[in-house]
Amino acid sequence: MVVALLSGAGVTLWITVARPNAALLTGVSIGGSFSLTDASGRAVTDRDFRGKYLLVYFGYTFCPDVCPTTLNQMAGALDTLGARADRIQPLFVTVDPGRDTPAVLLQYTAAFTPRLLGLTGTPEQIAAVAKAYRVYYAEHRTGTAPLDYTMDHSSIIYLMAPDGQFVAPIRADAEASEMAAEIGRIVG
Ligand code: NI
Repeated sequence: MVVALLSGAGVTLWITVARPNAALLTGVSIGGSFSLTDASGRAVTDRDFRGKYLLVYFGYTFCPDVCPTTLNQMAGALDTLGARADRIQPLFVTVDPGRDTPAVLLQYTAAFTPRLLGLTGTPEQIAAVAKAYRVYYAEHRTGTAPLDYTMDHSSIIYLMAPDGQFVAPIRADAEASEMAAEIGRIVG
């Protein structure tokens, strides 16, 4: 299985995952501990989410197209999964903590599904969690004013097991039905 790990600014890096349960692959480590702030302003760590599958997606609220499209499909997939989605906590981790405060995230995620929890943090905390998940992001200047920028970022959904281990990447550009099928095969 080949997945797009990194795209943005015309750059796409492909990685090959030999089998769905990539956590079994030696040398591949995705995820790990993190300390962030959730959309209600509460300090959270990875341990707070043990016991649930996680769908972890990195992006930012000002994203013009990729993030909203992905989150829409993800919300649709969770609807399709019905009661099984109760075992899944979807997380939206911002790569733009300067603009994405908890309040901004709360309003943004609610537009897709109330299930989606936005996470932000200090620039250092975001850098650490992005590194743990092998997520690329970079500011892309669009003008001279302070807020004249977009963020290039990886677009991939990580499915994590209830014990915090990485299970599989979910294609972020998949349709909701495809995402639901893929997630359902793992979550049951
Ligand atoms: Ni985006």
